[in-house]
Amino acid sequence: MKVGFVQFNPVLGNIDKNLERAEALIKDVSTDVLVFPELFATGYLFRDAAQLSSLAEPAGNGKIFWAMRDWSKRLDALIVGGFPERDGEKIFNSAIAVEPDANFHLYRKLHLFDREKTLFERGDIPLEPFEFRGAKFGLLVCFDWIFPEAYRTLAIRGAQVILHISNLVLPYCQRASFARAIENGIFIVLANRIGEEKVENISLHFTGGSIIYSPKGEILSRASVDREEVAVVEIYPDDALDKWITERNHLFEDRRPEFYER
Ligand code: ACM
Repeated sequence: MKVGFVQFNPVLGNIDKNLERAEALIKDVSTDVLVFPELFATGYLFRDAAQLSSLAEPAGNGKIFWAMRDWSKRLDALIVGGFPERDGEKIFNSAIAVEPDANFHLYRKLHLFDREKTLFERGDIPLEPFEFRGAKFGLLVCFDWIFPEAYRTLAIRGAQVILHISNLVLPYCQRASFARAIENGIFIVLANRIGEEKVENISLHFTGGSIIYSPKGEILSRASVDREEVAVVEIYPDDALDKWITERNHLFEDRRPEFYER
């Protein structure tokens, strides 16, 4: 199976332009799974709740979804990415994975980062893997990375490949994901963005370095810190079914939860 990421630099607030550029970047890609960053079609540093609200769309019904659905059909691939999801009065920072038949899987970021807490609702969808082409996938969004419980929960529930959509600003996750891959025996596809955004006195630099890890912590692909890039690698998701790390040590069965703090 082929999996890949699109390292991208959206223009804040311009969905049409971002979708047009994203489409141009991926038009000749051959893959089974292609992962865009968090909020890839809108940008990240919203001026205020009104701007965010003007860019949000319901899951499965809006410009961002329709574009992803078309790309999924055209490339015959699972297309994954982030969007601001409107659900009634609430707006979630969501990940969506769209299949070629337009069926989709949704996840709402559980762990909101910094100023996101003033704009988005906290996620309320369980960490549940889904199946695509015989492999099990889990979705995570950016700051979820600092909570190893999120990866562990998805892995224990059967995820073989975690698709991690990001707008990383701290400099740790690309390296920390090495440990998350090994300790859970999973593949990780981390799709990050690049570039800068500024609003009033806030300025953010996004760190790129999108990366794909094998369950043994091997780097299968790594992007630059400052260029838009598309990368695709071949993986064998069933490599993530073997949780034996030595002849006598199993990553999950050797756990001692009765000694751990909840
Ligand atoms: C982040 O969670 N977007 C840093």
